[in-house]
Amino acid sequence: MNIKKIVDIPFALANIDSAEIDEVVDTLRSGWLTTGQKTKHFESEVIETLGCRHALAVNSATAGLHLALESINVKAGDKVLTSPYTFTATAEVIRYLGADPVFVDIDPLTFNINPDELDLSLKKTNQVKAILPVHFAGQSCDMDAILNMALNQKIKVVEDAAHSLPTTYKNKIIGTIGDLTVFSFYVTKTITTGEGGMVVTDDEHYASRISTMRLHGINRDVFDRYSSDKPQWYYEVVAPGFKYNMTDIAASIGIHQLKKINQFQQRREWIARQYSENFQNLPLHVPHVARPEDIHAWHLYVLQLELEKLSISRDRFIELMFQAGIGTSVHFIPLHLHPYWRDRYNLQPDDFPVAFDVYQRAVSLPIYPKMSDDDVGRVIETVQILLTKYSK
Ligand SMILES: Cc1ncc(COP(=O)(O)O)c(C=O)c1O
Repeated sequence: MNIKKIVDIPFALANIDSAEIDEVVDTLRSGWLTTGQKTKHFESEVIETLGCRHALAVNSATAGLHLALESINVKAGDKVLTSPYTFTATAEVIRYLGADPVFVDIDPLTFNINPDELDLSLKKTNQVKAILPVHFAGQSCDMDAILNMALNQKIKVVEDAAHSLPTTYKNKIIGTIGDLTVFSFYVTKTITTGEGGMVVTDDEHYASRISTMRLHGINRDVFDRYSSDKPQWYYEVVAPGFKYNMTDIAASIGIHQLKKINQFQQRREWIARQYSENFQNLPLHVPHVARPEDIHAWHLYVLQLELEKLSISRDRFIELMFQAGIGTSVHFIPLHLHPYWRDRYNLQPDDFPVAFDVYQRAVSLPIYPKMSDDDVGRVIETVQILLTKYSK
């Protein structure tokens, strides 16, 4: 099949080589395609890499976030505080459980949830069950502030780390900080399994609940052929669970992607550095790195156009980049602008003025290990030419 290439530098592209391909072929030849030993192996590698106690593979981060919130008993009437500057998955899972998100505006530099706003919001909201911070673009939130507030209020912290493998906060890797953390292995993410996700936690009880709920609420303990006196075909359903398990085909990709997280991160960081160094003196702001001593996963490189100094709009800039053969994107359209969230909670654009302003200026540039040095050079040159040409 011949797929027509529209842009020659796409916005994102997975980096798959023969190790992943051979492992997938091995899985296919084995005849065991769904959750099995390879998924178990992937989970144990994640545990080893992060230094956490439990890792539970699922078929998306969305599924993982749903399970994480379910495991801490988020239910109808509860509130979960989160960022509006995210993908809808972060908030939709709260609604799956009948609870409501309470959006909290972001920091104008990092685009992560603003701890001062979070504090204010916590003080005026009843029945808060959890804080759901999103480590935007791969840079960690201010976790000390968030954990302190959670501790004071006796509520849980579930981290949306869809962008953030391998991110650190004060030298601790994300996945070892909050009560539960969820990673995404969607195809554009820092490592991929095509579709997939992982919930990690140190808590035995949450891990056990998630393990049951990710596969139809089936209690797996009865399958233990060494300790169980039940026949092998026997199982017990203990809750109305979900179908969220990861396949061994996906895990086969993940096992080898995981080995490359540092290599991939270094390449992404190198690209980010090239961009930031070469965009000085242009009418834009490069991404702010709050703690240079920490690891930024650089899932996204989001620049902010100084629209006041430009004679073209953000959308026109994106079109011109596209015409030059370069894919870009916008992260994110804040949730409060989307019809569902806007109408359900009667939200106005200015309710979250920082998120609204950041969105209007945002352009995400391609940043992935498969980009060649020439690709990176072409993106830089195109941005320089366009923004110089259209500077006021
Ligand atoms: C911040 C954030 N959270 C959650 C998700 C959902 O991830 P998945 O596609 O693995 O369900 C995404 C995906 O883009 C995301 O960007």
